[in-house]
Order: sequence, then structure tokens, then C-alpha cells
Amino acid sequence: MRNVTLVVGLAWIAAVAGGPPAGAQEKTPARAASFAKDVQPVLKASCSKCHTGKDAKGGVDLSSYAAMKKGGKSGPVFVEGDPDKSPLVTSISGDKPEMPKKAAPLTKPQVAAISAWVKEGAKNN
Ligand code: HEC
Repeated sequence: MRNVTLVVGLAWIAAVAGGPPAGAQEKTPARAASFAKDVQPVLKASCSKCHTGKDAKGGVDLSSYAAMKKGGKSGPVFVEGDPDKSPLVTSISGDKPEMPKKAAPLTKPQVAAISAWVKEGAKNN
């Protein structure tokens, strides 16, 4: 009898301590997206060839946060909090992404990370 009580007790503790239900974890990122850790390395690897300095294509300099904030010839590179209005995100999204030009599209996790960063306010973090 004592053993049964113990087992039931342990099962209860396990259920209570188990944390959020399965699936909830995937939707909530463990931490905020970071410009330095999540965004800049991707841009450096896939975009810097054409988007660095004063000769950057379309006037879009993606080599630093400050340069990105200035925007390109046709306007802002990103709109804080709104990935759908941010060329940085729309140009790399969809079935046939416009960017990077003449190269394989970014991976889904890379696109998701950049989109999340814009959505979270595009901070210099
Ligand atoms: C091989 C060169 C090349 C690479 C690599 C490249 N781009 Fe571009 N990008 C261009 C050119 C050229 C333009 C000028 C406008 C056009 O032709 O669409 C441009 C324009 C843009 C624009 C402005 C478009 C608009 O709608 O305002 C954005 C944003 C952009 N690129 C983002 C990126 C991102 C992000 C990457 C990396 C994932 C990237 N590009 C990689 C050549 C490149």
C-alpha cells in the first residue's frame, strides 16, 4: 500500500513539474533573435559580395547595422516590427526568392531568424 502511494505521488510530481505541454516550446523561441549572432553572419556569407560599401547594389549596404538603417536607393531595408514590409525579408522569402541574386536561396531557418529579428523590432542587439 505504501508503495502505491509513493508511485502515485511521484507521477503527480512528474506531471506538475513537466512544464509546458508538448509543442508550446517550438512556438516560443528560447531567446530573442540577435543581429550580431543570427543576422549579420548570414548577410556576411550570402550578401556581402554585392551589398558592401558605397558601390553596394541598389544602394543597399548590408555590411553593418548603421548602413542597413540608412536604407537603399528605393527606400528602407527594413521596417521595425514588420517583416512583410521589409525588403530585407521579402527579398529572401517565397518560392523563388529575389535574393541572393545568382545564388542558392537562404535556408528556411536563416530566413526565419532574419524575419524574427525584424519582427522583434530590428534592434542592434
Ligand atoms: C550577386 C549579387 C547579389 C547578391 C549576392 C545579393 N544581391 Fe541583393 N541586389 C543585387 C542587385 C543587383 C540589386 C539591385 C536591384 C535589383 O536588381 O533587384 C539588389 C537589391 C537588393 C535589395 C533592394 C531590393 C528592393 O526591393 O528594394 C535588397 C533588400 C537586397 N538586394 C537584399 C539582398 C540580401 C538580403 C542578400 C543576401 C541574402 C542579397 N541581396 C544578395 C545583387 C545581389
